[in-house]
Amino acid sequence: MANIIGRPLPTSATAEGFRRMRVRRSATEVVVDAPAKLNLFFEVLRKRPDGYHEIETLMCPIDIYDTLRVRDNADASIRFECRCVGGAADCGLDQVPGGPENLVVRAIELVRRQARVHRGADVSLVKRIPAAAGLGGGSSDAAAAIVAVNEVWGLGRSRDELADWAAQLGSDIPFFLVDGPAVCRGRGERISPIRGMPGLSFVVVRPPDGLATPDVYRACRPAPAPVSVGQAVERFACGDPALAGRCLWNGLQAAAERLSPWVKRLEERFAQLDCLGHAMSGSGTSYFGLCRHARHARRSARRLRAMGLGAVFAARGCR
Ligand code: C5P
Repeated sequence: MANIIGRPLPTSATAEGFRRMRVRRSATEVVVDAPAKLNLFFEVLRKRPDGYHEIETLMCPIDIYDTLRVRDNADASIRFECRCVGGAADCGLDQVPGGPENLVVRAIELVRRQARVHRGADVSLVKRIPAAAGLGGGSSDAAAAIVAVNEVWGLGRSRDELADWAAQLGSDIPFFLVDGPAVCRGRGERISPIRGMPGLSFVVVRPPDGLATPDVYRACRPAPAPVSVGQAVERFACGDPALAGRCLWNGLQAAAERLSPWVKRLEERFAQLDCLGHAMSGSGTSYFGLCRHARHARRSARRLRAMGLGAVFAARGCR
């Protein structure tokens, strides 16, 4: 069961309830900007009897957004189209299912089942977040779809209820239903939002090849002496980016390095930059550096682009 703790919850998941996932409503449609995320800290605690891994992670939304447009339709069908901004290769469009297997469609089907709705939806997704990259694009799109149909169908379901449904579909999806950074535990669905995080600047690279999350978890070895997320949260919250940079950590990184040569390659390239710290995000293959400020992130992005390593973004963390 998804469990969002640590902040007052609005009674209904209205547009005002989601400041980081931006929701706009017109007479005919709901438009949602769905952010990517970075894992600033990620520890794998143990393998669970249900096949999932118990994790502790500090996740931060960043200002790279997909845009989802949803309109109600009365004929009970779900029509879905997806296109990519900036070239299909940059966002790994070949990794994004275009049909009923897409998480967006599955999320809408799930809401329809749970809320016993008999209406349909026309959905268009513009992708900017690279897929199979550890940036949470598919999960964020799914969360956006849940919020959007809650609006267009006038369901008025609470954020907690939507998060419970979301957790059935994917471990990362409930995170995108809260504002700002959060510690996520369990298989990722138990969310504790973190208040007072300073604004952070990042440079992010998504290399040409991605990795599938199940493959990376299968190859990982849980930490024999796990590091607790608490120290990382304290260091980020204290507002000293240099200190924060030293606690970036990803317990899946060693497994991803065994599966893709890109992860080690990126680690070596980032070590040549003057970032405050660097790590892989999620199950990879995206790799990011923490920068001193936005200008530093843009400068680092220019240097990385010149190295021809894949799609490069300068990004800001959402507080
Ligand atoms: O929950 P989600 O569908 O995103 O997970 C995809 C796969 O990643 C799972 O089927 C599982 O193999 C692996 N996983 C895991 N432990 C987690 C999250 C995901 O082993 N905490």
